[in-house]
This record gives sequence, structure tokens and C-alpha cells, in this order.
Amino acid sequence: MGPALHLRNKFIFSRHLRILESHHLIWSDESACETFARELARCPGLMDCSVELHGSLGAGKTTFVRHLLRALGVEGRIKSPSYAVLESYELAQGLVSHFDFYRFEDPREWEDAGFREVFTSPGLKLSEWPEKAAGVLPVADVQIWITTRADDARLVELRAGTPLGVQVLNGLEGQE
Ligand SMILES: Nc1ncnc2c1ncn2[C@@H]1O[C@H](COP(=O)(O)OP(=O)(O)OP(=O)(O)O)[C@@H](O)[C@H]1O
Ligand SMILES: [Mg+2]
Repeated sequence: MGPALHLRNKFIFSRHLRILESHHLIWSDESACETFARELARCPGLMDCSVELHGSLGAGKTTFVRHLLRALGVEGRIKSPSYAVLESYELAQGLVSHFDFYRFEDPREWEDAGFREVFTSPGLKLSEWPEKAAGVLPVADVQIWITTRADDARLVELRAGTPLGVQVLNGLEGQE
């Protein structure tokens, strides 16, 4: 294999996600994050997606999830699942499962806590720190990569890893 082909494969299969489509955007402040969350909430197919949130501590993963849950109709307090690993919401549109795998260490928990079942059932799955559960998590439909810029704005990359993910990201186009 020549070096060019080797590099190409590495890019396409990086992090075991075959990237079918990718979009870049900037959240200049939290209200831009909120606007995007509202747009994503309207995308057909979202309610059966697995969405991974990548980014370092304080990047804005939980903030984004809170805005998305509000846009989907969650009322009251929205807890971060950093201790419980999973917080669930039963909505009219379906079940939403918000994971934070930061403290996930024992892969047996995947079975014992019923996480495998969540990922094989309908519903929206939102995962913070998915890299901590990399051995057990199935391929994500959508990955959201958040990087904090020096001026505090967030650089955001959306990646679709499945046809469902492509469908959802296409739903963002043409929204007001
Ligand atoms: N453009 C932006 N988008 C999202 N959050 C922003 C933005 N600008 C500033 N913030 C702030 O950054 C902080 C992000 O914290 P948050 O808890 O969401 O991060 P996190 O990625 O979930 O971190 P952790 O890895 O600890 O779970 C919040 O205080 C939020 O108000
Ligand atoms: Mg968080």
C-alpha cells in the first residue's frame, strides 16, 4: 500500500467511524448553541439517532444537550448524568437517553445497567465522553465535535456515520 492510500484509509476510518458527510459551524456564544439545538430538534429521524458529543472538559456538551432537551419539550430541572451515567426522559416523541461515560469503567455495566438494550431500542441516545465506552458503543449516527477557540467561541464539526445520520444532517438545510 502506498503512503497516500494509507493516509486516505486512516482519514476515512478514523475512530472507527466511516464519515459519510461532514459540516462545520461556529457557535460564537451559547445562544448560537441553543439556536443549533432547536434546529436539530426539528430534523426528521433524530428521535432514533445515536449522537456522540466529543470535546474536552467544559467544551459545551452538557450545555448543548440541555438546549436540545428543552427544544424537545423537557420541562423542569435537567441533571447532568456525570454521576449516574444515564438520565432518561420519556417524551411524547419517544425516549431520550442522556449518557455521560466519563466515569464508565467496567464494561460489565454495559449489560448489567441495561445500556446495551437502550442502544438496540428506538429512541434518541446522546452520549458525552463516548471514547470512555469505545469498546461497547455501537457506531454513532451523528458525531458532534466541539472545540473551544481562544476567543471562547466553539468550532463545531458534525459528522454523519450512517445513512440515518446523513438524513438527519440534511434536515438542517433550508431551515430558517
Ligand atoms: N458557544 C458556547 N456553546 C456552549 N457552551 C458555551 C458556549 N460559550 C460558553 N459556554 C459555556 O461553557 C460551559 C460548558 O460547560 P458544559 O458543562 O456544557 O461542558 P461539557 O463539555 O459538558 O464538560 P464536561 O466534559 O465536564 O461534561 C458552560 O458554562 C456554557 O455556558
Ligand atoms: Mg458534560
